[in-house]
Amino acid sequence: MPSSSPIRSTNSDVLGRYYTRADISSFLVEQIDDHNPRRLLDLGAGAGSLSIAAACRWSDLEILTVDIDSGIASSYQEKLGRINFQDSRHLHIHADALSCELPDLLDTIRNPIDTAVCNPPFLIPKWSKGFSEILEDTGFSHCLPLPSSTDAAALFLAQNLRLLGDNSKLAIILPDSLVSSFKYSKFRQHLLTNYEVERVVQLPRGAFYGTDALASIFVIKKTKVVSEFLSIFKLGGDRSLSNRLVISKEHGFERLDYNFHYQRMRSRSSKLSITLSDANVLVSRGSLSTSQSKKIECPVFHTSDIGSECYGQWVDLSHFECPSDFPASSKLIMGAAGDILIARVGRNLEAKVLGVSAGNVVLTDCIYRIRAPEAMRNELLSALSSADGRQWLSSHAYGVAAKHLTKFDLLSFPLSFD
Ligand SMILES: C[S@@+](CC[C@H](N)C(=O)[O-])C[C@H]1O[C@@H](n2cnc3c(N)ncnc32)[C@H](O)[C@@H]1O
Repeated sequence: MPSSSPIRSTNSDVLGRYYTRADISSFLVEQIDDHNPRRLLDLGAGAGSLSIAAACRWSDLEILTVDIDSGIASSYQEKLGRINFQDSRHLHIHADALSCELPDLLDTIRNPIDTAVCNPPFLIPKWSKGFSEILEDTGFSHCLPLPSSTDAAALFLAQNLRLLGDNSKLAIILPDSLVSSFKYSKFRQHLLTNYEVERVVQLPRGAFYGTDALASIFVIKKTKVVSEFLSIFKLGGDRSLSNRLVISKEHGFERLDYNFHYQRMRSRSSKLSITLSDANVLVSRGSLSTSQSKKIECPVFHTSDIGSECYGQWVDLSHFECPSDFPASSKLIMGAAGDILIARVGRNLEAKVLGVSAGNVVLTDCIYRIRAPEAMRNELLSALSSADGRQWLSSHAYGVAAKHLTKFDLLSFPLSFD
């Protein structure tokens, strides 16, 4: 097994072989501005979608590709042949991209690499001793989560930066966890403070074959001259590019996704910026995991029970009623008349909001219960289920596949939009 064989994968493929669609690869290469590449690296090259797009843009490149999958090289050669790329200007190495031997194998000291493109596997690899060296060389060793939960993408990013020469550029696709989750905030801080992140472009779902993982392109320059601001964009499903948002680096430490900052700027300019945490509300998370909920002998209310017909409505949930003499009921978080329920986890959690008009129901831990004073309940349900509220919830949730909304974020929900 390779040293980086996964302990957890975002998807089912053991090597994370989800290839980039050709138009997204060309788009990624177009994001590299003001640069004249000579020697280009593609770690985890797969069938070469990214480096072939680069070869189409810059015809006199030398290309270095590395992949651990021995079966992929022939399809790569064939594609390069189709664009008449000279064999002698392509070197393919069948190796672990996270090996410490790579600088020697690629001869990076005598012949520096000035450009890299990369779409790493979205998985958590089994930790290997050599990873520490890669992280130490690039300064990331003290700002990553526990080894057992560090994404391969963070290691591929560090390895690229380690292999690149000064003033070189890297265009890399990173999963949403690195872009927006709290566990990677120190990682983002180190990246933005020590490297010039020129732009971040949030990609639409469906940018890859075989997965609808959420991800962003980062264009990074390896230089000591780092500016105070960075530009973030969003690519739509119709491939239209949003306007540029300029954010401070400090805001980028928090998150780097377009939707989040777009909403933040809107709420900041909003006349009323009272949030859920300013109001006298109690937010609680349901108590039963999915497996526990299958074992107990009473109905349990889950996100899948919030159908589109219930969205934003006061709904009678008496048919989920938990018997009043049910033994564990006093220890469980229950939804009752007047409560607002909202999904905590799910691909479209922003569309799962309802109010309880009747019933006493046990909740799974995928649901938040919001208990608000009677006078504000209608207004709150309307705000959460308005177009703006829906957009806000969607942009504050994070996750590569299923999205999550933290209680901390939910409490910052603005009670009024302009
Ligand atoms: C998400 S795919 C991307 C492929 C290609 N770059 C693209 O954009 O279509 C990730 C690739 O990384 C390769 N890979 C996974 N783990 C690797 C490792 N430790 N070293 C080298 N390649 C690896 C897989 O075989 C796969 O081809």
